[in-house]
Amino acid sequence: MEITKILQGLCLVIFCLIMLNDKVVIGEGETMVNLTILESAVSKGAVCLDGTPPAYYYEKGHGEGANNWIIYFRGGEWCYNVIDCVARTTTEKGSSKYAPKQRSFYGILSNNKTINPDFYNWNRVMVIYCDGSSFTGDVELVDPITKLHFRGARIFLALIENFLEKGMKNAKNAILSGGSAGGLPALIHCDRFKALLPNSARVKCLADGSYFLHREQMKEMAFMDTVNEGLIKLHNSTNMLPSSCTSKMNPSLCLFPQYFQEGIKTPFFIVNSMFDTFQINKTFPGYYENLFSNTCSTSLVKTLQDFKQDFINALPKQSNSSSRGMFIDSCLIHSQITSGVGWNGFSVYNKTIAKAFSDWYFDRSHEQLIDKPDLPLNCYNFPSITNFCP
Ligand SMILES: *[C@@H]1O[C@H](CO)[C@@H](O)[C@H](O)[C@H]1NC(C)=O
Ligand SMILES: *[C@@H]1O[C@H](CO)[C@@H](O)[C@H](O)[C@H]1NC(C)=O
Ligand SMILES: *[C@@H]1O[C@H](CO)[C@@H](O)[C@H](O)[C@H]1NC(C)=O
Ligand SMILES: *[C@@H]1O[C@H](CO)[C@@H](O)[C@H](O)[C@H]1NC(C)=O
Ligand SMILES: *[C@@H]1O[C@H](CO)[C@@H](O)[C@H](O)[C@H]1NC(C)=O
Ligand SMILES: *[C@@H]1O[C@H](CO)[C@@H](O)[C@H](O)[C@H]1NC(C)=O
Repeated sequence: MEITKILQGLCLVIFCLIMLNDKVVIGEGETMVNLTILESAVSKGAVCLDGTPPAYYYEKGHGEGANNWIIYFRGGEWCYNVIDCVARTTTEKGSSKYAPKQRSFYGILSNNKTINPDFYNWNRVMVIYCDGSSFTGDVELVDPITKLHFRGARIFLALIENFLEKGMKNAKNAILSGGSAGGLPALIHCDRFKALLPNSARVKCLADGSYFLHREQMKEMAFMDTVNEGLIKLHNSTNMLPSSCTSKMNPSLCLFPQYFQEGIKTPFFIVNSMFDTFQINKTFPGYYENLFSNTCSTSLVKTLQDFKQDFINALPKQSNSSSRGMFIDSCLIHSQITSGVGWNGFSVYNKTIAKAFSDWYFDRSHEQLIDKPDLPLNCYNFPSITNFCP
């Protein structure tokens, strides 16, 4: 019995790790999408850490979706010191040279009508993350020793200009989205994106697994504080962050959505687990071991409950649901919308992310879904917190 539980726990840990590494293949009927290298961005100084051009995967929209666009930024943490940034230059997180020539699109990017009924025929773009700054960097000088370029914000602008030229200037509907470190720019640049699109377009943003929580009283968040302080200095990010936030507080706090979200005028939607595995892992080292070895002590339950409460308190106020949509589950996962199981497998109150988001996007319903104990929650074959701790 005990052994079975431990084994089961181990399997789940392994599954989570695989998922975090972005290697789980779920979904059917997906096609491979080719890489496009945006050479023209180089003359604008919009380049990856190593000076190579930015790049993305693009599938053209058709039928009713021909004038609709969804842009998705890939994630992958941050580099906030020179050593980390140099290390990235031999991977696709710092150089488009290393980006796979093709990628499959799942979940919200899937071209399968059954899996993705509202967006399958849109113009769909997945952007590689090669700047290390969540697309906020803007340093003119190229580091003379390391040859590093800190130009994430320029990449953002060069890409959007390119998509406008490719037809986004006629967009009827558009979504700026991303996962993890890639969901932050979807929020940070949300109003900028809206301003670049036609006035008549329906423009909204979507951040998945990006609601990184800052807990003022907690030393545990030292990791994110270190990241953010290093990041804005190294990448000169302050001017790119919402001024409604940087005018009020230390700019390094303005990478936490809870502090800058209020100033965003364009409607946005949050998809997040209240026990996001990335955040929990960083906040409480050793947590997984305790959880999966089934030692759910009273103090662990209390720690988790306090964390959950702080997370919920930090969410946008739940009064204007047309401008702030949300799907908050308690599945043990990091980001969810670009996997088949997450996008239309997970549900809160029997509503999948796909349904909750598209109902909100098209103003069919403005339900804000936040998981509560005793209400139906489906994490597909992923564990939820209640598998281990009440
Ligand atoms: C789309 O997905 C459904 C459900 O997973 C699957 O049954 C179907 O074969 C897929 N369609 C295509 C064209 O592959
Ligand atoms: C993608 O690239 C492959 C290999 O270069 C090529 O054969 C194929 O036609 C390309 N697909 C599209 C849609 O451009
Ligand atoms: C920092 O960024 C601002 C604009 O975002 C720019 O005007 C300024 O020159 C940059 N500073 C450096 C040192 O590159
Ligand atoms: C937790 O964090 C450690 C240290 O950063 C890392 O090695 C491990 O892969 C992470 N595990 C999960 C499940 O995120
Ligand atoms: C709610 O959000 C909508 C859409 O952004 C906006 O038009 C409206 O003014 C907001 N209402 C309030 C009371 O803030
Ligand atoms: C959710 O689904 C369950 C199981 O199918 C069902 O018993 C329940 O009535 C549904 N609840 C709602 C709110 O739709």
